[in-house]
Amino acid sequence: MSQVSTDAAGRTFLLTTPATSYALHIDADDTPRHLHWGPRLTLRQAAGLTAHDGRTSSFASTAGDELAVEGGARFGVPSLLVRYADGTRGVEWAYEGHRIDGGRLDLRLRDRHYPLEITLGYAVHDDADVIERTVTLRHSGAAGDAPVEVLRCDAACWSVPAPAARRLSHTVGEWSGETQLRRTPAPYAETVFTSRRGVSSHHANPWLMVDAGDADETHGEVWSTVLAWSGSWRITAARDHAGGPCTVTGGPGHEGLSWRLQPGETWRTPVFAGLFSAAGFGGTSRAWHAYTAAHVLPHPGEERPVVYNGWEVAGWNVTEAGQRALAARAADLGAELFVMDDGWFGRRTSDAAGLGDWHPNPERFPAGLGPLADEVRRLGMRFGLWVEPEMTNPDSDLYRAHPDWVLHMPHRRRTELRNQLVLNFARPDVAEWAYEWLDRLVAGHRVDFLKWDMNRAFTEAGWPGHPDAERLWDGHTRGVYAVVDRLRRAHPGLRIEGCAGGGGRADLGMLARTDQTWISDNTDAVDRLAIQHGYSQVYPARTMSAWVTDSPNPQTGRTVPLRFRFHVAMAGALGIGGDLTRWSAAELAEARELVALYKTVRPVVQFGAQHRLPDAVQYTAGDRVVVIAWGAERELRLAGLDPAARYADEDTGSVHDGARLTSHGLPLGLPKGDLPSTLVRLVRR
Ligand code: DGJ
Repeated sequence: MSQVSTDAAGRTFLLTTPATSYALHIDADDTPRHLHWGPRLTLRQAAGLTAHDGRTSSFASTAGDELAVEGGARFGVPSLLVRYADGTRGVEWAYEGHRIDGGRLDLRLRDRHYPLEITLGYAVHDDADVIERTVTLRHSGAAGDAPVEVLRCDAACWSVPAPAARRLSHTVGEWSGETQLRRTPAPYAETVFTSRRGVSSHHANPWLMVDAGDADETHGEVWSTVLAWSGSWRITAARDHAGGPCTVTGGPGHEGLSWRLQPGETWRTPVFAGLFSAAGFGGTSRAWHAYTAAHVLPHPGEERPVVYNGWEVAGWNVTEAGQRALAARAADLGAELFVMDDGWFGRRTSDAAGLGDWHPNPERFPAGLGPLADEVRRLGMRFGLWVEPEMTNPDSDLYRAHPDWVLHMPHRRRTELRNQLVLNFARPDVAEWAYEWLDRLVAGHRVDFLKWDMNRAFTEAGWPGHPDAERLWDGHTRGVYAVVDRLRRAHPGLRIEGCAGGGGRADLGMLARTDQTWISDNTDAVDRLAIQHGYSQVYPARTMSAWVTDSPNPQTGRTVPLRFRFHVAMAGALGIGGDLTRWSAAELAEARELVALYKTVRPVVQFGAQHRLPDAVQYTAGDRVVVIAWGAERELRLAGLDPAARYADEDTGSVHDGARLTSHGLPLGLPKGDLPSTLVRLVRR
């Protein structure tokens, strides 16, 4: 049972989650200060923790604010940077009071002099150890007053006890090589994780974990933080050598952006959530998966369909006949959703033209999309389409009509990446245009599924004529969210896959309004292992789209057995993306069998608890256990089973003691040869 409690004075607060506690205090000078984040304790115990003693120094640690501001003797990373019209900067805190509403705590503070209200928001849930934090700013002045310039506003500043803060875990990456997990000693310095690209990015994912260097998959204390935001962002970890806690401050936007909060205006950050777990990285990931399912995803309990997508087959050479041929074979294999990727609209016969002209290409689809959509449904599949609503090619009717709709700056080049420019979704007219055509497209063709892509970073991110143009960095992301949300409300049956040139926008902000993520354009099953491993650190398997494509892989040239390709993709939401017109009868038969097998394990993979094992992954849901292994291990020790129970192999009939499976291991009997793999289904007897 999670709850929020406070002392009689209303100045010490305790957030209690099923296994953890978080405590803070309003100091004598009204500064909100951190007390505790870790194992459970009581309000009395929390109140006994030494808060800041009020003394300041030029030399001591100044870490430990709940939200670090500029002002007084503070020398750490500021979470909030503001400037008023007279040039004064920072905040001198005045505490106004608090509001507790179920699992929510709002601490209402303001600047002692200037018209700025700052609410620190906290929320806990009964079924999660995740603590959600936000900051809300309000300009409390009257119309006509000068605005407050906001130079930075993070959603939270988390404090990790100094002895525990020796190592950082995060992901690095690139296009086609996203979410590569890295664990690195925490330097006594400020370490910045960021994206300046307008999307959360392929290069870093907006989360960070801190541990003492001794945590592993099964043991150890881990403090993790995840930002639910899909635009540019920054998380800064500061390890303090002067004895203070390690702070992790994070929020939307990168350095150097500023905008003006107008009188009467309220602005709230996205959520920067934190989780303490004593169950190692595996326990941490399972807790994030469960939280995402319970509190983020729109339809967590729905099985993700087996998708067929012909992008790697057709590229831009989309034809109705070609798509029909693929659809027939995909349906025969057991695919449940057929998605037509890029190349179906406008003059989109390459990446040089057509983005923005969202009507079927008349040469390719002389009778529109109706005949293909009908055929797909006749074959028993749902119908999906690729879209990239935030983009336009300069060679498009849209751009010719509205050259001012793109991000641009006077006297600057409009840098084209992939021959395209970014439409400014912070503009209401652009967002309205996008909603209208999307609504028409979805309604007109009863589209069941959209793959929403976004293939380039922001450059020359200006908004000429707008008095506060840098707002677009925030406004674009919120504009995208608003269009997706409105579309989903208007079409409750519509499901959406988030994509940004692969995994360039894989984050909890998108997952709050999409159903799955295209995590990488790299479909080489061997490369995919590391990408999936990194993605799984925070995000659940049901959201991880994974296709089986051709061998040799069209991008990497690697030859990988069909079974291995399937097994790797079956660890998430299985899809197929190969050229089925060229697969042999034997391959098609094997694929048919494997798709059928996936459907039997899908509820366990998609909804079960995930344990990452050496060269394997295990999913457990109720009495059922699925193990997918691709390594050379002969015996694989399983996790989280009842040692007293017996588990039967559904395929061979062998029965194993739980104790044996967890202590000695499951005999895998992997076939000989290159890249062996297996999938084992166990059921508790
Ligand atoms: C990037 C995506 O990640 C691919 O899967 C594909 O949809 C292309 N864009 C299409 O242009």
